[in-house]
Amino acid sequence: MKVKILIPVVFLLSSNMVMADALNDIFNEYKQSGVSSTNEKAGKTLWNKEFKDKKTGQSRSCTTCHGVDLTKTGEHVRTNKPIEPMAPSVNKKRFTKVKKIKKWFKRNCKWTLGRECSAQEQADILTYLKNL
Ligand code: HEC
Repeated sequence: MKVKILIPVVFLLSSNMVMADALNDIFNEYKQSGVSSTNEKAGKTLWNKEFKDKKTGQSRSCTTCHGVDLTKTGEHVRTNKPIEPMAPSVNKKRFTKVKKIKKWFKRNCKWTLGRECSAQEQADILTYLKNL
């Protein structure tokens, strides 16, 4: 009985700590790039903002693949593969690896906005996402 209760508690604690570690590291990097404050609202706005692809005229936003409800599973718009929920409250694996966060920011900003996101934009978006 004891063991059954203990395991999930330890798991929860440790995965939250891994997220906190990765986020600490990446926010330190943003700070070093000149980001002095973050704006959750600006992050949310950018996350939902529609951008037009120059070639196809197709409308794109972060929600195109991640969906509107970030506690639910999304779907990749090109491959139709499911994407685990972005909200760390329901997906403990979110934002636990700096390398992964950077890789996907780069790839997804390029595809969605047609350019990379600035350190400020990334910091704002992450501030919004990490509290979900
Ligand atoms: C074309 C589909 C697609 C779009 C559009 C998209 N993403 Fe993603 N995103 C993915 C996939 C696929 C992954 C990796 C799989 C996973 O983490 O579940 C991912 C992962 C991420 C991660 C890594 C999360 C982590 O746990 O480390 C971040 C950050 C991210 N996306 C941000 C964004 C932002 C910001 C936008 C809008 C500018 C965006 N994404 C738009 C498909 C997309």
